[in-house]
Amino acid sequence: MQKLMVAAVGVFLGSVLLTAAQDQVQEIWEVPEEERAVENPIASDDDVLAEGQRLYERNCRMCHGETGLGDGPATARIKPAPRDITTADAQDRMTDGEMFYKITVGKRPMREFESRLTEDERWSVVHYLRTLRAG
Ligand code: HEC
Repeated sequence: MQKLMVAAVGVFLGSVLLTAAQDQVQEIWEVPEEERAVENPIASDDDVLAEGQRLYERNCRMCHGETGLGDGPATARIKPAPRDITTADAQDRMTDGEMFYKITVGKRPMREFESRLTEDERWSVVHYLRTLRAG
């Protein structure tokens, strides 16, 4: 009987820990206030948006999907899948500086892009991400 109790408590604790671990994965990715405050130094125009789109398609689409829903083909293999970045909620939650920072440093399984894209390239991707807003 006692053994059964111990086993039951163990299973219970295990599921609590598992839930906690899953919750952590779902947490909103917070960035420092000073990074949020940085403004996009590049003015948006057709060329910048075309460049942003080209870079997005090459570097981001496989995970974030064609339109930013977080449904790219690579999400079959990665955890967590990226959340939908097209919603009004996501677009309003993130400042340009915050998007830039996230692209710059990355967060597993998303790589950092500091060593792959120049600052101007990262800012043009930020302009492009704004065009994906759905609501
Ligand atoms: C290997 C897959 C992968 C690639 C490639 C990738 N990302 Fe991500 N991205 C993710 C995942 C997963 C997250 C969620 C990370 C978390 O919050 O734990 C994420 C988060 C983000 C976020 C923050 C979303 C939010 O709601 O906080 C932005 C913005 C973003 N990515 C933009 C980009 C851009 C732009 C590129 C290309 C330059 C890119 N990502 C490339 C997987 C990827």
